Amino acid sequence: MSLVHDLLQNNRQWAAALKLEAPDFFLKLSKQQKPLFFWIGCCDSRVPANQIIGLMPGEVFVHRNIANIVNSADINCMSALQYAVDVLQVRHVILCGHFGCGGVQAAVHGEGHGIIDYWIWDIKAILTRHEAMLAQAPAERLVDLMCEINVIEQTYELCRTKVIREAWQRGQPVRVHGWIYGIHDGLLQEVIPEVDRTVDVETVYQAALTAVTQKYTGG
Ligand code: CO
Repeated sequence: MSLVHDLLQNNRQWAAALKLEAPDFFLKLSKQQKPLFFWIGCCDSRVPANQIIGLMPGEVFVHRNIANIVNSADINCMSALQYAVDVLQVRHVILCGHFGCGGVQAAVHGEGHGIIDYWIWDIKAILTRHEAMLAQAPAERLVDLMCEINVIEQTYELCRTKVIREAWQRGQPVRVHGWIYGIHDGLLQEVIPEVDRTVDVETVYQAALTAVTQKYTGG
């Protein structure tokens, strides 16, 4: 039996088990989706959005790319964000990075991977921006520190997108969060406290950078 065949078998069992628990589960979902959460995370197979936050199909709208990068010029990410905020009216947008991120690691170590090198250009730019602070961190913690800084920077970018700014201007109660996930322990940590339209993004961003600097460099 092939592995892919196993997947189809798994699917039949999963759907049957869910239907047994809630006979109209799929019928209800087929009529509409009303997720409260939008998740922007990394493609990494160890960070599956629904599972780690314990949500069922229909409960979280998801966009994933290598190293959870938010760039206003990325039409894929911006379309998902706009649909989530403007159409689905999610209440929370969660930017979630993770420790040991391969994309961040590639940028830190300057490894060449082909097309990905262009994709992680944003992370290389972040590295340059924080060069002085990064130089103070112990070498073995550099990737972890950069994973956290990446969450801070991408969350900041997220708050500055047209979609989020306009949502806040019209008074929409959407909140932005910056989290990091530990693939070694399965736990999430808050890197940026909840940001909504009443909060000064710049202040939150600077405070998060200061906190992370203290955590890794002790100063
Ligand atoms: Co990753």
